[in-house]
Amino acid sequence: MVDALFANSRLASLYDPLDPDRSDLDAYAAMVEEFGASRVVDLGCGTGTLACLLGQRGVSVIGVDPAAASLAVARRKPHAEKVRWVHGDASATAGRAADLVTMTGNVAQVFVADDDWHTTLRAVRTAPKAGWCSRPGTRFDGHGRVGPARRRGSGCTFPRSARSRPGPT
Ligand SMILES: C[S@@+](CC[C@H](N)C(=O)[O-])C[C@H]1O[C@@H](n2cnc3c(N)ncnc32)[C@H](O)[C@@H]1O
Repeated sequence: MVDALFANSRLASLYDPLDPDRSDLDAYAAMVEEFGASRVVDLGCGTGTLACLLGQRGVSVIGVDPAAASLAVARRKPHAEKVRWVHGDASATAGRAADLVTMTGNVAQVFVADDDWHTTLRAVRTAPKAGWCSRPGTRFDGHGRVGPARRRGSGCTFPRSARSRPGPT
């Protein structure tokens, strides 16, 4: 079930104003560039800040989220028209071509049961050629609110073409 914080339209509209500093997304944008990813799926895109940023830069990006109210906020942002918005979860990425799948801003922490986490990763991996990258805890660590998540299996994998390059830790 989607958290009301993201699914209620009044709460979703507060998400960006309450946390306007999105410098946490710089690392993801840098990875997209470093790995030469021209097609990105942003899973759990929420209000779409990263997706719009990437769309503005000419990246072909699909923003996926199960919270319709958050997607509605995303669709109103500058450059939103350059993003394909999909209402759903990881299963909605099946068959969609992508070079990289991102999960930013603690999306990984949504999956508290190993089964849910593995189901999500398996679904993401059906996207042709996709690598995936999630940096759990990055955002909140920067604000000193929540310590780093220590989920087994977190990190990054990349398409074969990118594996020779050093990945982030
Ligand atoms: C903390 S918000 C992060 C939003 C955005 N990635 C960001 O950086 O601002 C977590 C997001 O995960 C989404 N989410 C919840 N369950 C999900 C699932 N099963 N699959 C994908 N996203 C999910 C929520 O709807 C919410 O938009």
